Amino acid sequence: MFVESVGRWVAWGILLQVGLGVSAGSCPPRCSCRLETKEVICSGKHLNSIPEGFPGDAKHVDLSYNKIRTVGRRQFSGLHELQDLDLSDNMISMIEVEAFQGLQNLRTLRIKNNRLKILPVGVFSGLSGLRFLDLSQNEILVFLDYTFRETVNLQTLDAEENDLVFISQRAFFGLQSLQELNINRSNLTSIPTEALSQLQSLTYLRMLRLTVSTLPNNAFRRLHRLRTLILANWPSLDTVAGNSLIGLNLTALVISSCNLSAVPYSALRHLSYLRFLDLSYNPITVIQGHLLRDLLRLQELHLAGGNLLRIVPGAFKGLASLRMLNLTSNQLTTLEESTLHSVGNLQVLRLDGNPLSCDCRLLWVVRRRLRLNFDGRQPTCSSPDTVRQREFRDFSEKELPRVFTCRPARILDRRPQEARVEDGTTVLFSCKADGDPAPSVTWISSHRNVVSPAGRIRVLPNGTLEVRFAQVHDSGTYQCLAGNAAGNDSITVGLYVKGGSRNRTIPFFTEEDWLEPPIPQATNSSAQLAKPYPFDAKTLIIATTMGFLSFLSSVAICFIFMFFWSQSKGQIKHTATIDFVPRSSMGGGGDGGDGGRFTMKLI
Ligand SMILES: *[C@@H]1O[C@H](CO)[C@@H](O)[C@H](O)[C@H]1NC(C)=O
Ligand SMILES: *[C@@H]1O[C@H](CO)[C@@H](O)[C@H](O)[C@H]1NC(C)=O
Ligand SMILES: *[C@@H]1O[C@H](CO)[C@@H](O)[C@H](O)[C@H]1NC(C)=O
Ligand SMILES: *[C@@H]1O[C@H](CO)[C@@H](O)[C@H](O)[C@H]1NC(C)=O
Ligand SMILES: *[C@@H]1O[C@H](CO)[C@@H](O)[C@H](O)[C@H]1NC(C)=O
Ligand SMILES: *[C@@H]1O[C@H](CO)[C@@H](O)[C@H](O)[C@H]1NC(C)=O
Ligand SMILES: *[C@@H]1O[C@H](CO)[C@@H](O)[C@H](O)[C@H]1NC(C)=O
Ligand SMILES: *[C@@H]1O[C@H](CO)[C@@H](O)[C@H](O)[C@H]1NC(C)=O
Ligand SMILES: *[C@@H]1O[C@H](CO)[C@@H](O)[C@H](O)[C@H]1NC(C)=O
Repeated sequence: MFVESVGRWVAWGILLQVGLGVSAGSCPPRCSCRLETKEVICSGKHLNSIPEGFPGDAKHVDLSYNKIRTVGRRQFSGLHELQDLDLSDNMISMIEVEAFQGLQNLRTLRIKNNRLKILPVGVFSGLSGLRFLDLSQNEILVFLDYTFRETVNLQTLDAEENDLVFISQRAFFGLQSLQELNINRSNLTSIPTEALSQLQSLTYLRMLRLTVSTLPNNAFRRLHRLRTLILANWPSLDTVAGNSLIGLNLTALVISSCNLSAVPYSALRHLSYLRFLDLSYNPITVIQGHLLRDLLRLQELHLAGGNLLRIVPGAFKGLASLRMLNLTSNQLTTLEESTLHSVGNLQVLRLDGNPLSCDCRLLWVVRRRLRLNFDGRQPTCSSPDTVRQREFRDFSEKELPRVFTCRPARILDRRPQEARVEDGTTVLFSCKADGDPAPSVTWISSHRNVVSPAGRIRVLPNGTLEVRFAQVHDSGTYQCLAGNAAGNDSITVGLYVKGGSRNRTIPFFTEEDWLEPPIPQATNSSAQLAKPYPFDAKTLIIATTMGFLSFLSSVAICFIFMFFWSQSKGQIKHTATIDFVPRSSMGGGGDGGDGGRFTMKLI
């Protein structure tokens, strides 16, 4: 090897003397060389260029914190033993093609915090042993096709804090061993799906601070080995398409500090090996019931710092392995035991930073206050006023049954309500309920449907049922259910609508507008058939009849016109026009007997 190096020395002559200095036992000026560890340390030595005189057997070269501006072609050739090269924190704006040629043993290359704008294809040629490459904090704009073609053993690529606007489709060609890719604060406006799909060994992908608003379907296809996906600080990401994560088998997923207003339930559904899910710092307000049930192996769920107002009972049903639930800093007033699959498995619970209402619904938490790990942050009561600001650990066992209580829901006015009206009238039925926590009020229609807050028949915000433009078929009994965690109450009211009123002008409402659909049992097609038609049968018959009549009358008018025309100009019967007119007037209306006769007469 030494002989080869000497040979090259002679061959390159003066050029090499200027460009590079490799000689055993020497040490570049201003640098310190440690023989035993084969280290050359030139960090922070105000070097303006890469110095000469590296010992030929150097394994570690540190050139960080200097003022180096360029790296020339084959600048380090001869350093066959070199394993680590650190060029971080310089002012490098140019690296020539084949700059690292000959460093086949180089494992780690750091070019962090420089001024690179472009990476010419071939910069990394010869680096077949490279495992770790740090290109972060540069100004790289694009990754061109085949830039990394020769770094076939690269395992980790850091491309953080660049100005990347584009990653070419074959930019990552050759990176068949890459396991970890980090991109942070780039100006990419879409996911480089095609380029990423070449990284068959990728297990870890982190992309921070992108300005992408939608995660499209198949965004990460062919990344079969990917286990950890971190997407964070994408302030405009508000849409995660249902099939965006398809093809992935993740164990950890982070989509945090984005603009998601709902949990992307359908995108998550197939991730049955997921153990860690972090959707923190998104403006999510509600966790719906039973939609996360396929995440059988989920152990940690983070929903910190969102706008959570409500977690619907059953929200975490199916999550049998859930050990940690992080709900810190939301707007939750409670967390009911029925939201969880099994309370027994829960070890860590963060509920601090929520305006908790300390009533019977939180009794299950406070009872476990000594066993549950609150991660050092005790939940604190916000209401009722008597226990405001008190931490859970401050409560003695004795006062729990007195403080953490609820009053069951009770309907205040139980007088019978019955309305007998003519159709077209508007009717109100009140249902005022009281309880602690404030009960929810639900109305069930005579057809056993839950009445929604919108539509012709609706529930007003104060719990009153309003039936506008009452129809005969609205008649029946309606039930008001008031309920809270402590108990339920109900009343029944009657509505009898008499038909025949002249005041029948009703605005257009379809049945779906005012009733939530009944439990779906019908198939699509029959549901469509059952869909009420905006017109009744009578109207349809009239409309059809009208259409038929107008067809007949056009034929008749035609007939009469032709008849008179042929009478007046009786002599010129055999013209092409005569044949033509009847056919066009008949259109596609069928070759009725009338038409046939008509034509025959004319000819
Ligand atoms: C991402 O980049 C920002 C600056 O743009 C920096 O503050 C942050 O620490 C980086 N995050 C990571 C995890 O590297
Ligand atoms: C990338 O974005 C940063 C701000 O986030 C901006 O300063 C820079 O000019 C952008 N670069 C390009 C090439 O658009
Ligand atoms: C986030 O979404 C809201 C509406 O859902 C929108 O008004 C806001 O501009 C979005 N923020 C960003 C940074 O895109
Ligand atoms: C998904 O990953 C888990 C481990 O993380 C593995 O046991 C399982 O076989 C993988 N499934 C598929 C379909 O690759
Ligand atoms: C819960 O989330 C907060 C905010 O992201 C974080 O600081 C905290 O470490 C998390 N707790 C646990 C136990 O991970
Ligand atoms: C409920 O609200 C409606 C309209 O806002 C009002 O007409 C009705 O009197 C209210 N009912 C009760 C019981 O307060
Ligand atoms: C109240 O009614 C709901 C729904 O019917 C039921 O699930 C719940 O157990 C009832 N609560 C009480 C305390 O009876
Ligand atoms: C007809 O219905 C409208 C709207 O409900 C109502 O204002 C009007 O008084 C009714 N007229 C008669 C004659 O019932
Ligand atoms: C409903 O229709 C869709 C397509 O229109 C079909 O894929 C689905 O199987 C249908 N569902 C039922 C219950 O028929």
